[in-house]
Amino acid sequence: MSLPPGFLDEIRNRVPISRVIGKKVVWDLRKSNQARGDWWAPCPFHQEKSASFHCDDQKGYYYCFGCHAKGDAIKFLRDADGMEFIEAVKLLAAEAGLQMPEPDPRARERTDRRTRLLEVTEAACRWFRLQLQTGAAAEARDYLLRRGLDRGAEDRFEIGFAPDSRTALTQALRDKGYDEALIVESGMSAKPDDGGAAYDRFRGRIIFPIRDGQGGCIGFGGRAMDPNARAKYLNSPETPLFDKGRNLYNLGPARSAVAKGQRLVVAEGYMDVIALCRAGFEGAVAPLGTAITEDQLRLMWRVSPEPVIALDGDAAGQRAAQRLIDLALPMTGPGQALRFVILPAGQDPDDLIKAAGPGAMGALLDGARPLVDLLWSRETEGQVFDSPERKAALDKRLQDAIAKIPDELTRNHYAEELRRKRWELFGGGPRRNARQGNARQADRKSAPRGRGQAPRPLPAVAANPLTAAALLEGASLLICALRPELVAQAETRLERLSPPDPDRAALLFDLLSHGESPAGRRGLETLRRDAHLGLTPAVIGSQDAETALAILNNLLDRLEAQRAAGTELARAEAEIQGEADEGLTWRMQQIARARHRAERPELEGGMDLNEDRDALSAQLSQFVDGQIWRKPPRR
Ligand code: UTP
Ligand code: MN
Repeated sequence: MSLPPGFLDEIRNRVPISRVIGKKVVWDLRKSNQARGDWWAPCPFHQEKSASFHCDDQKGYYYCFGCHAKGDAIKFLRDADGMEFIEAVKLLAAEAGLQMPEPDPRARERTDRRTRLLEVTEAACRWFRLQLQTGAAAEARDYLLRRGLDRGAEDRFEIGFAPDSRTALTQALRDKGYDEALIVESGMSAKPDDGGAAYDRFRGRIIFPIRDGQGGCIGFGGRAMDPNARAKYLNSPETPLFDKGRNLYNLGPARSAVAKGQRLVVAEGYMDVIALCRAGFEGAVAPLGTAITEDQLRLMWRVSPEPVIALDGDAAGQRAAQRLIDLALPMTGPGQALRFVILPAGQDPDDLIKAAGPGAMGALLDGARPLVDLLWSRETEGQVFDSPERKAALDKRLQDAIAKIPDELTRNHYAEELRRKRWELFGGGPRRNARQGNARQADRKSAPRGRGQAPRPLPAVAANPLTAAALLEGASLLICALRPELVAQAETRLERLSPPDPDRAALLFDLLSHGESPAGRRGLETLRRDAHLGLTPAVIGSQDAETALAILNNLLDRLEAQRAAGTELARAEAEIQGEADEGLTWRMQQIARARHRAERPELEGGMDLNEDRDALSAQLSQFVDGQIWRKPPRR
């Protein structure tokens, strides 16, 4: 239906967008300025507690600063209520007290045409059904029986037969009074380019009618009887009725089944859907001979928040699953998840149900893995991460993947889950100690982690609790243990800590993964008893979150500065052949010695150092406090 010019503007002027949106959100009245038509609320498109969703009555627009959803009232009704454009317009027009315009002749013509096309496909559907009962279809009926489809299944799925003729259907439809152009447009007949007579598109095939969500017959899939046929399956061409990428086979019945508590299962083919339904999994759908599209994902999510994807266990099916990961990540969020069933190699759901029964299929569906697992497997399986570069490459790939997720909460949970998997995969000596025994079996299977390697012995010197670094590290860990809510905000920095002490490493792992382990508890106990840190609980306990975080960041700054200094020292020592100015050279030497001594007191007696140890240490801390080698702060 085309609308007269200015009609939408008139609606926008009459209906404040806040009135439309206000039915779906709870305004934050403190943040909003009602008089100015300036409204804020927690966003209805992603889960959040704060109000980052804004709408402006003057402009008639909304925008979410969190998930970047934006649009006008019509867009809102479409996205928040799943309305069609024209439905939304009708609703708003009623709200505005405006009369909807009469459909213009062209639109009426289009609707009429659609109705006519549906008449043709319904007639074809009935005709195919009848053909299956004729003598010419004996072979087809045998074939269906061999595949385990009896009369009941034929009726339920309206299975038909297209005889091996170039004219039978086209003629039958003409006889019913449909003209050739309409028959061709419906996709039932094809017209050769040379202008010859239209001929039947489906020949010598078992026919599966495809209905849209409202039950209209929009097209057909035809399976060849002849194993040498050019295409095993032939589908209706794109027609005004049939848009492959926006429909799913068996959508209507599956939606009813899901409403009754079944899960939505997405298989690859018609036969799989039929087999699934007959095995009791009636929420089964399939794309129509193409890879799953964005539109089909949206369609699935309108039916169920967590469809289970059960693609074939062959190379093509697995590739399709991989592609689906990339397609789904930018759309995933609360209420828009996916799970994946990994079928045994070479089997599709139809094969599996035949070979192992509905119980086996049910068990596989129960064990379906979330999208994040597939992402992890895809990025790690069969690879060895035995160098910093390889680990970094993995981190980069994972980061890029996560960055595609629009919903912040979901993104954070992906990050957390992937971090957990990453720690289990890379877990160095101390971490592996801490986690031994409770690493999950599934992760072991999927992750090459060099099992059986003995944890590398730890350099005793680095565990010396008296070094400044160890103190800073200990204080940071203790603060995080006392105020776990800070962990998320400093996690990338905390991840880089890698404490040399195994108990501390275990504690850090526990903090980052929200877990608890005996070694981690031991690490925390030791910190609590450490006299140098005795004041920490009192100091940190009385701060607000912001100050506590600032203190933690300050400690981490200092720790990183020390580390940077250490690296810088090593480099300077290597270059110390007199190139640098003398003052710097001298200072570096001093510090190098002091550091060496501070870290290895047991060697002190044997070292040829004349300087007063305290003086050097004082100088060291002065340099460190002054952070003379530190790169400019990151913030
Ligand atoms: P499969 O070849 O896996 O089909 O293709 P299937 O369901 O296992 O078929 P059977 O068991 O041999 O009868 C999966 C889907 O891909 C599309 C069809 O939609 C099919 O159901 N397809 C396949 C085509 O469109 N054309 C083809 O030539 C093959
Ligand atoms: Mn099959």
